[in-house]
Amino acid sequence: MYRILSADKPAANIYRMVVEAPRVAQRCEPGQFLIVKNEEEGERIPLTICDYDREKGTITIVFQPVGASTTKMAELKEGDHFMDIVGPLGRPSDLTELSEEELKKKKIIFIAGGVGTAPVYPQVKWLYEHGVKADAIIGAKTKDLVILEKEFSEVCNLHITTDDGSYGREGMVTKCLEDLIAEGHSYDHCVAIGPMIMMKFVSLLTKKLGIPTIVSMNPVMVDGTGMCGACRLLVGGEVKFACVDGPEFDGHQVDFDQAMKRLQMYKTEEGRAMLKLQEGETHSGNCGNCSDSADQKQEGSGKEADA
Ligand code: NAD
Ligand code: FES
Repeated sequence: MYRILSADKPAANIYRMVVEAPRVAQRCEPGQFLIVKNEEEGERIPLTICDYDREKGTITIVFQPVGASTTKMAELKEGDHFMDIVGPLGRPSDLTELSEEELKKKKIIFIAGGVGTAPVYPQVKWLYEHGVKADAIIGAKTKDLVILEKEFSEVCNLHITTDDGSYGREGMVTKCLEDLIAEGHSYDHCVAIGPMIMMKFVSLLTKKLGIPTIVSMNPVMVDGTGMCGACRLLVGGEVKFACVDGPEFDGHQVDFDQAMKRLQMYKTEEGRAMLKLQEGETHSGNCGNCSDSADQKQEGSGKEADA
């Protein structure tokens, strides 16, 4: 059991919880994710890690309820417990593999959209702790939906933009990036995390600008273990699974249109049957459980996870 030490709402319909999970806090790196279960028979919910404190043995998760399980999870409060937390899972961000010297040579821009701001934070914080103050854009629809402003402003050069101009600059994150470049900023590495449509358009723009770009395909995950096949992607024409090969990929290589279409199909039983017909075994094959029955066990699970 994992105790919730604090729970609050940084914005309407966005929930933040600090949870006692010393083993995960000890081992997790920026870019990795967790599987959370509220109760014994509960659904497995993949969530990105927003922060961790190795000394206190805590992790912070931020999520937006999108289905029954995350809605139930949002009702948990300080002192309540999660039944299970599995992680850290997935590959850490490539940036964590570079030396401090290599990192200091890079001009990095992080682009965070909406709830996707949460998984960007551990990366900018990690860089700051390694002597690099990166630039970051937080984009939100309106002022009320901007999250983690204080936390970001302590560890990076922060630019905020809102779609309606109610706070910071006006317009979407792509306009903000274009404006920063017109104002004389230059970048040689971009990390974009947010809604798929945002990551698609950021990647199209940075391809034009010649800036290598990493995106996080966390939104397509369902069980997070390589078993269900939900997170199957085409990256540079090759089949990849977000949960075992990612979640971070080269944004210029990801086929976003296929991923968004596939995600819609995966939500219905009929769509999953059609995907199975088209693709055969849809899961990654790395799960150690490659049988029809393994796939069938997952058939009842609809898309639930977020953040
Ligand atoms: P949102 O729709 O409010 O968008 C956030 C920002 O993204 C916007 O303010 C805008 O600046 C930018 N954006 C949106 N559409 C764009 C476009 N067409 N072109 C350029 N920029 C665009 O975001 P939200 O409702 O908070 O986000 C929820 C989504 O975030 C969910 O779909 C969830 O799956 C995703 N998410 C992704 C990750 C990840 O790891 N990639 C993590 C958490 C959440
Ligand atoms: Fe990757 Fe299920 S989420 S295979």
